[in-house]
Formats: sequence, C-alpha cells, structure tokens
Amino acid sequence: MTFYEEVGGAETFDRLVHAFYVGVAADPELRALYPEEDLAPAERRLRMFLEQYFGGPNAYSQERGHPRLRMRHAPFPVTLDMRDRWMRHMLAAMETLDLPEAHAEAMRDYFMRAAHMLVNTDETPPPAGTGAPSSSPVGPEGRPTL
Ligand code: HEM
Repeated sequence: MTFYEEVGGAETFDRLVHAFYVGVAADPELRALYPEEDLAPAERRLRMFLEQYFGGPNAYSQERGHPRLRMRHAPFPVTLDMRDRWMRHMLAAMETLDLPEAHAEAMRDYFMRAAHMLVNTDETPPPAGTGAPSSSPVGPEGRPTL
C-alpha cells in the first residue's frame, strides 16, 4: 500500500485541501497573495500535487509538468509571516482528518520542510539582530541551510 492509500486516498486529500482553503479564504493577508478571484483552481492544483507527492495518481505532472515549487512560488512574496499563516491553516486542516499519529507526523514534517524551503524574501527572523545560533539548521533568511 502506498502512503496515499494508507491515509485514505482521494477522499482524504480532498478533505485536507478543502479545509486548508477554507482557512486561506478567511485570512485576508494570505488570501491577497492568491492571484485568482476563485480559489477552486488553486485548491485543485494543491490537491493534485499532494496526491502525487504522497504516492497517488500523477495528474499534477501530467497537467502542470515538473513541480518546481520554488520557481512556481517566485511571483509571490513568501515572507516568514506568510509561511507561518500557510502552516497554521495546513496544521488546522490536518487536525480535521484524525489520522494515525505516525502518518500525521510524516505529513506535518513534509509541510514544515517544504514551507521553510519556499520562503523567498530576505528577512532576519525576530528577535531582530540576534540572528540564528551557529548550530541552528535554519539560516539567516529563515530557510534550512541544507
Ligand atoms: C508545504 C508548502 C507548500 C506546498 C506543497 C505548496 C504547493 C503549491 C502548489 C502545488 C501550487 C500550484 C503550482 C502550480 O501548479 O502552478 C501552489 C501555488 C501557490 N502557493 Fe503554494 N505551496 C506551499 C507553500 C506556500 C506558502 C508558504 C505560501 C505562502 C504564501 C504559498 C502560496 C502560494 C500561492 C499564492 C500560489 C498560487 C496559487 C495558484 O495559482 O495555484 N504556498 N503552491
């Protein structure tokens, strides 16, 4: 069984992404970054991407090509604040699924890493000026250094 099947297949990803976009729609600052008036196409793209990433059908790549997520996010200023908003809505959406803890943790880990990787603005994370300790895996721009 793939991870995709283990967590409940299409229905699970449908519920997850739908709950996530309900959160985005209710968050004016994050919502302002989404170019389209209708969030349904964005919801569909994220759903197809996540299904593919977690071992389901590869409709995303058939329709959109290689994911290249960092490049696709380049037009949007993904600040630390926006990343945190995005994560908050995704974690809340995850809660609605009630998955076995090991599966939930694997998904949260992925979202955490991907969201860090997508930050594309030069900011020093607060508190200003202190920087990250040298042993921190997070660089001065709030992105993992790996
Ligand atoms: C785990 C992290 C994330 C994943 C897996 C993800 C995934 C995606 C995918 C698959 C798309 C559609 C790309 C396409 O085919 O054109 C997309 C679009 C977008 N993402 Fe993300 N994203 C993540 C984090 C973020 C964050 C942190 C922001 C912060 C603002 C963000 C903002 C957007 C916006 C504004 C779009 C354009 C909407 C659209 O037209 O699809 N994303 N993202």
